[in-house]
Amino acid sequence: MIPVAAPCIGKEEEEAVIAVLRSKMIASGEVVSRFEEEFGRYINHSSAVATSSGTSALHAALLALGMKPEDEVIVPSFTFIATATAVSMCGATPVMADVHNKTFTLDPDSVMESVSSKTKGIIGVHLFGQACDIHALSQICEDHSLSFIEDCAQAHGAEYHGKKVGSYGDAGCFSFYPTKNMTTGEGGMITGTDSGFIERCRRIINHGQKERYLHTILGYNYRMTNMSAAIGRVQLTKLERMNQVRQRNAEIYSNRLRIPGIVTPVCLDGSTHVYHQYAILVLDEFPLPRDGLVEYLDRNGVGSAVHYPLPVHRQPLYKESMNARCPVSEWLSENILSLPVHPGITADDCEKICSCLLEVN
Ligand SMILES: Cc1ncc(COP(=O)(O)O)c(C=O)c1O
Repeated sequence: MIPVAAPCIGKEEEEAVIAVLRSKMIASGEVVSRFEEEFGRYINHSSAVATSSGTSALHAALLALGMKPEDEVIVPSFTFIATATAVSMCGATPVMADVHNKTFTLDPDSVMESVSSKTKGIIGVHLFGQACDIHALSQICEDHSLSFIEDCAQAHGAEYHGKKVGSYGDAGCFSFYPTKNMTTGEGGMITGTDSGFIERCRRIINHGQKERYLHTILGYNYRMTNMSAAIGRVQLTKLERMNQVRQRNAEIYSNRLRIPGIVTPVCLDGSTHVYHQYAILVLDEFPLPRDGLVEYLDRNGVGSAVHYPLPVHRQPLYKESMNARCPVSEWLSENILSLPVHPGITADDCEKICSCLLEVN
C-alpha cells in the first residue's frame, strides 16, 4: 500500500534524539532555544517560540494578541478544526467565512461579509501548502484594526511574493505533527516580529511565569521538549529538499491527470506551493463518485484521504450555534480527495497512481 502520508525520519534524527537522551536534559532547554533561532531565521528572520503542538501555538498566539470572550475571530470553514477551536479556547467566537473555489483558501469577499463590531482578528490558513490571499486579508485587517494570524500548519517553507509564510501576519503558527512537511513528533512554533508579542507568548506557554515561580498571568504548559526540538533541527535542514520532492510529485500528477471530471490544484502566480496535500476535485463527469474512487484506489494499493469531509460550521461542535453560509466549503467537502504526495514516495509510485486513475476512464 502506498500510504497517503508518512514522516521522513532517518538516521540523523535518531542520533539527535539519542544525544539528547544521553545528555539527560530532555525537557525544554538549550536544544529548543537553538531550534527556535534556526526556525525564526528561516522564516525571514522572525522571532520564534516553540510549543507542544500547532493547536497550542494558535491558542497561545491568540491569547497573546488579546483575544477574549465577546471577541470574534474570522476563520475559514474549510480547514482542520483546530483553527476554530483555538479561538473557542480563548472564550472568543470563531466566525466561519467561506473559501475560494479555486485555491480553497479564505475568500476576502466572504470575510468582508463577516466583519462585525466584535471582530478582533482574522486567521488565514495556508491550506494544503499554498498561501492564502495575504495581501487582501492584511488590507482588511489594516482597514478595520484587526490582528492577522497566519495558520501555517500546512505550509512550512511556502513563499508568497518572495517571503516565507509566517513572516507576514502579527503571528504565524506552525504544526510539526508527523504528517506535516516537517515534523517533531508533536510540536508547534509561533513566529512574529513584535518583541512584546513574543514575550507574552513565552510567558503563556510556560505557566504565565515572568521569572522562576513568579506567575503574572494565566499560562499553560505548552512547552516543546528537547527531544522534539532535536528532531525538528534535523528536519529543518531537510525541509527544502523534502518540499522539492513534493513539488516533483505534484508536477507528475498535474501533467498526467488531465482527465474529464478531475480538477488538479491551482498554483497562483507569486506563490510557491509546497503541497502538504495534493488535493484533487472529483466531479460528476468522472465515472466514479469521490467515495467510490477512494475504495477503487484502496483496492489498487493506493492510500488516499478526504481533507475534510465536514466543513467546520457543520461539525456537531459548532453547528447548533452557527448560521454560517459557506457553500464552497460544503461543495469541497463532498468532492475533494488527497493523493499521496509526501517525499517518501517515488516518481514511479506517482506514475503508477496516475495510471490507476487513467484506467478508471
Ligand atoms: C490547518 C491546521 N491548523 C492547525 C493544526 C493543529 O496542529 P496540531 O495537530 O499540531 O495541534 C493543524 C494540524 O493538523 C492544521 O492542519
